[in-house]
Amino acid sequence: METYYRPTRAEISFDALRHNINAFRRVMPAGVPIMASVKANAYGHGAVEIAREAVRCGINYLGVAFLDEAIQIRKSGIDAPILVLGFVGPEGLPIARELGITIALFREDVLEAAAALPPSSKRLKTHIKVDTGMGRLGLLPEEDWEAFIERAVHTPGVEVEGLFTHFARADEADKSYTELQYSRFNKFADYVKMKELPISIIHAGNSATGIDTPEWAGGMLRLGISMYGLYPSVEVNKQRIELEPIMSLKTEVVMVKDVPPGWGISYGSRYVASGNERIGTLPIGYADGFSRMLTGKAEALVRGHKVPVRGAICMDQCMIALDSAANAEGPVQSGEEVVLIGRQGDECITVDEVAAKLGTINYEVTCMLAARVPRVYTREEKIVAVSNALAIGLG
Ligand SMILES: Cc1ncc(COP(=O)(O)O)c(C=O)c1O
Repeated sequence: METYYRPTRAEISFDALRHNINAFRRVMPAGVPIMASVKANAYGHGAVEIAREAVRCGINYLGVAFLDEAIQIRKSGIDAPILVLGFVGPEGLPIARELGITIALFREDVLEAAAALPPSSKRLKTHIKVDTGMGRLGLLPEEDWEAFIERAVHTPGVEVEGLFTHFARADEADKSYTELQYSRFNKFADYVKMKELPISIIHAGNSATGIDTPEWAGGMLRLGISMYGLYPSVEVNKQRIELEPIMSLKTEVVMVKDVPPGWGISYGSRYVASGNERIGTLPIGYADGFSRMLTGKAEALVRGHKVPVRGAICMDQCMIALDSAANAEGPVQSGEEVVLIGRQGDECITVDEVAAKLGTINYEVTCMLAARVPRVYTREEKIVAVSNALAIGLG
């Protein structure tokens, strides 16, 4: 197991991950496979460890954004099917074929490059991507998509295993746009069925679809944000699926100081103590993904109390007010645990709260967590794996 010396770490619960996957399995029509979206370092949670655990939980497919992410997972010894949801260019096709990585196919030149690959005992696996209203990637309903699909299916050395689309507004309470996308997608799907083309997985849904309209996910649910225990928006019906956030961001107080009135805290003295104040220094800053834009807004949990971050958040450190956390045990001391995201005692700071302070969505908050923050994975509250991208060696 990798080791780490920094008190700052992201703790990730494999039990909560399993809980979330099982929760989706219960609401999905029986037998519908689930893809775990582990792109962007598994939304900041650590791609290889999450992929490995998701496969242990019975996930059928892994999804990533680009080929390098797929190669990283394959090279770590995970042999589950992997679909690259984004663009793969002609130069990526030989290695994708070699490593059994499935690519999204929607560009003519890529299909031509696939047709021109040197002969091999392996076929290039593809899922054709269609744009039903996301306006991002895929064949449009207006173009000659029938010809493209037929050409792909009949290209020797190419296997068209799937056909998929992506919903742009599935997380909204008003489902009319998603319904429109779903009906457009059905035209593609109906064509495949009518022509009896050998395309076995026709899929459309993301987390929001699994929560609100599982019947529109088609032949596979692509589960992202909610596998990590977060809802895709405030508009989805949270009563349908109870999620458990899987990540906590923790650190500890590395120095305490009692400062006199008028003492400036951090760059620019943006906070000045109004009286005698006990201040704690935390070894986490914006280079860890604890954004400087949280200055004046962020809170931390100490002894189960919410306390404010004081002064500008630095690159590697920030300061917190400790007086309100003092209790019968006396004032807070260095070495005490601090939670920046997650639960401590009866209090909790959610990813959604942090996102609201930053004016962004929960997805971005977990994705921002920098590589240099060690990820510590737990099962039944015991550490079962550690990932430290600084690769300092064995513990
Ligand atoms: C093509 C595609 N499918 C599925 C997902 C998973 O979406 P979510 O994280 O909202 O479940 C994503 C993520 O953005 C995606 O780009």
